[in-house]
Amino acid sequence: MANISSKTRQLGLIGDPVTHSLSPFLHNFLSDRLGLDYVYMAYRVESENLKEAVLGARALGFRGFNVTLPYKREISPFMDQLSPAAEITGAINTVVAQSSGSLAGHNTDVSGFTRAANRTEYPIENSSCLVFGAGGAAAAVAYGLTRLQADKITICNRTLSKAEQLAHNIGRRTRIEEVRAIGLTSQATDKRVRNANVVINATSVGMVPDEAETIWKDEQAFDSNQLVIDLVYTPSPTKFMNLAASQGAQVLGGLDMLVCQALDSVELWTETQFDTEVAFSESRRRFREELE
Ligand code: ATR
Repeated sequence: MANISSKTRQLGLIGDPVTHSLSPFLHNFLSDRLGLDYVYMAYRVESENLKEAVLGARALGFRGFNVTLPYKREISPFMDQLSPAAEITGAINTVVAQSSGSLAGHNTDVSGFTRAANRTEYPIENSSCLVFGAGGAAAAVAYGLTRLQADKITICNRTLSKAEQLAHNIGRRTRIEEVRAIGLTSQATDKRVRNANVVINATSVGMVPDEAETIWKDEQAFDSNQLVIDLVYTPSPTKFMNLAASQGAQVLGGLDMLVCQALDSVELWTETQFDTEVAFSESRRRFREELE
């Protein structure tokens, strides 16, 4: 950051609100660590100014930007191209300004999830997975699971109709063998959680200040053959992860996915592949310190 010059390229985050975001910290740290000449700022943009903000970023020569709530869907009409992940999930979290001047919308929540899941070396291919949640995060996870070639996905949500909608979309748009929707309080859910190889919390349940909550309370549901993933990263680990780990399950937390999606965004902006482990271990440690 100390070396900003007239050659430094801009990156940023567009959303509302953005003041809570850790993305500027993470991205400026990554730029520094990877020796990149970029600066990353957070921009609060009001809904009626979204188009101007996008066009402004392009006119000012931004290399790209991240998009957060509430604009992950709303930004789509201003894109010239969409990646398959952005198109299928209907959500964009990374925009790349291409040399032609056109804007491409991507979803690195999907690739961040698959990258983080691959690091566990758990065999997700041909597995049976259960996803808690049916919002944007769950859509990214469900599509990511199809890319990891899971066989079966159950979408389990408090509001059943939203689970059905997501299951329908995934079933229609991918080659998944089986995708089902189920309510959170359905009697069959217990068995589904027990029988799943991979269980993922893609809801906000368990996030501070409600860290005493957990999406699934029955610790007997978990065992040492399972991989249990929580997208929540405050606290880290979550109660859900602790519960599953106490039964011997392998666990993966939201911090890993957050770092991986940021790395994926950087790779899109720089068109360079970075050694995941080099950037990963240090940024994860620094990020954890920042959160404490
Ligand atoms: P995101 O884009 O981060 O996924 P979202 O679209 O608001 O956010 O989705 C939040 C998810 O968490 C939803 O699946 C929501 O369930 P509903 O569809 O029934 O609202 C789920 N969720 C949030 N609070 C919950 C709670 N207390 N119990 C169960 N599920 C909850």
